[in-house]
This record gives sequence, C-alpha cells and structure tokens, in this order.
Amino acid sequence: MNDTFLKACRGEKTDYTPIWIMRQAGRYLPDYQKVRGKVDFLTLCKTPELAAEVTIQPVDILKVDAAILFSDILIPVEAMGVHLEFHEKKGPVLTPARDENVIKKLSVPDPEDKMKFVMDTIRLLRKELAGKAPLIGFSGAPFTTATYMIEGGTSKNFLNTKRMIFQSPELYGSLMDKITATVTEYLKAQIAAGAQAVQLFDTWGGIFSPSDFREYALSYVIRVIADLRKWLKAENISVPIIYFVGETAGLLEEISTSGADVYGIDWRINLDDAVKRLGGNAIVQGNLDPLALFLPQNRMEQRVKDILERASSARGHIFNLGHGVVPETPPENVIALVDMVHRLSKR
Ligand code: CP3
Repeated sequence: MNDTFLKACRGEKTDYTPIWIMRQAGRYLPDYQKVRGKVDFLTLCKTPELAAEVTIQPVDILKVDAAILFSDILIPVEAMGVHLEFHEKKGPVLTPARDENVIKKLSVPDPEDKMKFVMDTIRLLRKELAGKAPLIGFSGAPFTTATYMIEGGTSKNFLNTKRMIFQSPELYGSLMDKITATVTEYLKAQIAAGAQAVQLFDTWGGIFSPSDFREYALSYVIRVIADLRKWLKAENISVPIIYFVGETAGLLEEISTSGADVYGIDWRINLDDAVKRLGGNAIVQGNLDPLALFLPQNRMEQRVKDILERASSARGHIFNLGHGVVPETPPENVIALVDMVHRLSKR
C-alpha cells in the first residue's frame, strides 16, 4: 500500500513528497471523456461502478499518491431537498434557497438513505484501490455550499449571499445550521464507509474580510471539525482532515484556528510565508498555479523546485495545485508534473 500521502498528512517523514491534484478526475482526461460521453454528470456521480472507474483513472494514468472520490459538493445539497441540474455551459443550476419558507422545508438527510450511492462508491473503491492508493472523501465547507444554495448556481459577486448575511443574519444562521449538520453527518458516513482522509472545500471563502470570514464561514467549519474529532475519537479512527480555502492569502491567521490537520493553500502566496502565518508548525498542501501546467517543462520544473524548497519549512507537505486542473490542460503535462515532484523530492 502506498501510504506516503497519509504519512505526510500526519507529519511523518516520507521518502518523497506525495502529490494528488484537485479535479484530477475530469474533462482534461480522454479516459474520463469516454465514460462521461455515455452518461450525464449526475448519473455518473450516482452510479458507483462508473464513479469508481473515473476515480481510479488518475491513479493509474498519472501515478498520483491518493485518489479522491468522484462526486460533487452539490450532491448533499440535492439530498437536503433542493432541485439540482448541471447544464453543459452554465454549470450547476439550483432552485435558490433565499426565503424562510424554502429554508424551513430543507432537511438534514440521513446519508446512508439519501446518498447511499456515495457510500457504495467508497466501499467499492476501497476494494478496487487496495494496495494502490488511499482514498480521500470530501464535502463542500458549509459556507461554500451555502453560496450555491442562496445564489442558485455560480456567482460573480455573491450579492444574494452577502445580502442575506447582512440583512437577515438569523435566516442565514438557520440555513447554515442545517448545512453544517448535513456536512458533518455526510463526512462521518464517508469515513464509516472507508474514506481515509477528508477534505473540506471552501472555494469561495476568499470573498470575505478576515472578520466576516471568521463569523460567517470559519465558525461553521470549526463546528464541523470539532464534532468530527469527537466522533473519530469515540470510534477510535484516525483520519486526517484537510481544509482548502480559495484565495487563502488574506485569511491564514483565521484559517489556522480551524482545527484541521492539513491546510490547502492557493498559488497567490509563497508556501514559506503561508507556513509562517499559519503559526510555523503547519502541514500544507499546494500550491502550483493550475495554469503553470501550460509552461514549457523546464520552466515548470523551476516552479516545482521552488515550491518544494519553500515547503521545507513546513511540518509536512503534500504537493497539489492551488485549485482544480482546468479542462484544457494537456494530460501529458500533468503526468510530467507528478513525475517531476516524485523525482525532485526524493530523499
Ligand atoms: O477532484 C476530483 O477529481 C473529484 C471530483 C470533484 C468534482 N467537483 C467533479 C466535477 C470535486 C472534489 C468537486 C468539487 C467541487 N464542485 C467544488 C469545489 C472545488 C472547486 O473546484 O472549487 C465546486 C465549487 C463544485 C461545484 C461545481 N461542480 C461546479 C461549479 C461545476 C461546473 C464547472 C465545471 O468545472 O464544469 C461542477 C461540475 C463538475 N464537478 C465536473 C467535475 C468533473 C465537470 C462535469 C462534467 O463532466 O461535465
């Protein structure tokens, strides 16, 4: 079993720096396109055999050190009772949850009932991945999940979200209580099914000032992680918790109080600065600009070296991009990146 990734998450010494890539299963891979050509995206997420197949593709093709469950952060939103569709060009489209009567009707779903296909995918993956790579489960963090529910999809300035936060804080709080409970139960179910690490995606956390971030996003993450830790202890399970925030740079001091084991860092800050601002003793994941995958190989290699060097001040490092790989990326460049990280970090 390749346990380099899990060791790095625990701050243990490793023979080389492990790497996985956000959105590593996706449209840039012809093998993914082939499966996706047969079914729509939600059907792919809900068919355990197919979801497991595309989860394993990047492990075989790229030789990454971890697999991430193929699913989407909006799956639990649908399970809460929101109508969800994915449109080819627009991305996700949801019925907005902005009014009290809509929010009142949302449920906190039992994951093994409403999202059994996710846990079935995880159980299948643990069998199929045995000896190959550990499996990362994930959820959207409560705030990032809420933005999709309040906006009804992706947004530019998050007007509806901030308007609800600033004008109807109690309504926002009642929505966040439901999402927080949903995320917590969902992650517990993923771990019980076999997820060996979990990542919380707070992609849109960077839209806030530090104090608003603390009050309206981070406080709920702290609740999720504290609750998870209590449960993990009672169940006697050890599973690293990774917290990724998009546009991290202005928020690192706040983020360091989340209770996570590993921090996902985007490319807008140098890793050594990030480590300092996280308190000096952090384990970090990141942080190559996803579009650096379009550089000529010798220049990409310089950036990889630079990141590896800067990461030497951290208690542990997992190499990753600072955000998801984009669909236009040449797969051979991603293969080259993984090889580069393994080769250049060999100890
Ligand atoms: O990382 C992985 O390989 C695992 C699978 C995964 C997907 N989405 C698959 C996906 C993960 C971890 C996510 C997380 C996710 N989903 C986030 C947080 C991380 C981030 O990238 O910021 C967010 C914000 C979403 C919501 C979402 N899903 C959007 C806005 C879109 C449309 C935009 C797009 O990239 O198409 C999706 C669709 C989606 N999720 C695809 C994939 C592979 C593309 C669907 C397709 O095949 O057409």
